[in-house]
Amino acid sequence: MKLLVLGGTKNLGRHVVEAALRADHEVMLFNRGLTNRGLFPSVQHVIGDRADPSALSVGSWDRVIDMSGFLVRDVRLSAELLRDRVGQYTFMSSIAVYADRATPGQDEFGPLVPWPVGAPDNEFTMDLYGPSKVHCESLLAATFGSRAAFVRSGFVVGPYNPDFGNWGTALAHGTQMECAARPSQPVQYVDARDLAEFLLRDLSGPYNVVGTSRTMAEVAAAWRSVVPGALPVDWEPAVDRFHLEDDGLFRLDNGRALEAGLQLRTDAESARDYVAWIRDGNLPPDPPH
Ligand SMILES: NC(=O)c1ccc[n+]([C@@H]2O[C@H](COP(=O)([O-])OP(=O)(O)OC[C@H]3O[C@@H](n4cnc5c(N)ncnc54)[C@H](OP(=O)(O)O)[C@@H]3O)[C@@H](O)[C@H]2O)c1
Repeated sequence: MKLLVLGGTKNLGRHVVEAALRADHEVMLFNRGLTNRGLFPSVQHVIGDRADPSALSVGSWDRVIDMSGFLVRDVRLSAELLRDRVGQYTFMSSIAVYADRATPGQDEFGPLVPWPVGAPDNEFTMDLYGPSKVHCESLLAATFGSRAAFVRSGFVVGPYNPDFGNWGTALAHGTQMECAARPSQPVQYVDARDLAEFLLRDLSGPYNVVGTSRTMAEVAAAWRSVVPGALPVDWEPAVDRFHLEDDGLFRLDNGRALEAGLQLRTDAESARDYVAWIRDGNLPPDPPH
């Protein structure tokens, strides 16, 4: 498959490119060349800013995977430019699109957050994160119809990505895991590699690409199990290193994604690989705020 990845050199996008190369896809990357320069030397890099995607005026692709779409104006520009030259347009969205943050078991078709009247479509603020993703999804649906797909994830764990506050580092170095959430707090996460494999699938419409909902205590027990003699979790740390979402956003229905082929590895596999990655000398990035 001929694949164009918008972004592709940071956290999640890196996994998509790695998975695409493993599957022998022909990959082209479009980014500014600022993040992790020199990564993927065998791949064609097109340098440009999303604010001016004219470097993509020529060419056609079976699929675009948009890993860097936040600003509505920028996503509109690439949608218009690529409309007749790509098969599927897969947009990396977020569970922040949901307006109802309390009800458990929501599927992809519940109410979405509105676009604030008068908000700028070319400036990013955290308040506009969810509304921007909704706005981008709807303009892509209008442009590409059933050729557009929206992958909504929340918490993503895996090499290059943050994990649960200090868990990976604590397990790698024999210190205490901290968790400022209550042990019964529901949580859903997806391993970055499972997400990447899913992003390469034939998709249409929205998907909740999240893992099975569990409690923090269950996930913590599974993570501790990969390191013999791991210390007990400190449930009342002085600093909250990880910001959890509201309960409803961690009890989403992932049935549509599972039906479309989402495969989820176990907590123990995610934890073991993450701890090994840190022991190899890598430092996890800070969690997003
Ligand atoms: N837990 C999570 O991390 C999470 C959860 C849900 C959804 N998401 C979504 O997942 C996507 C990927 O997130 P990420 O953290 O991996 O990466 P990101 O920070 O969103 O994007 C980084 C990539 O995009 C490129 N890029 C950034 N600004 C650009 C611009 N103005 N023009 C062209 N290229 C640009 C960067 O390369 P250059 O700097 O070289 O340009 C890099 O390759 C995002 O859309 C995010 O909203 C993330």
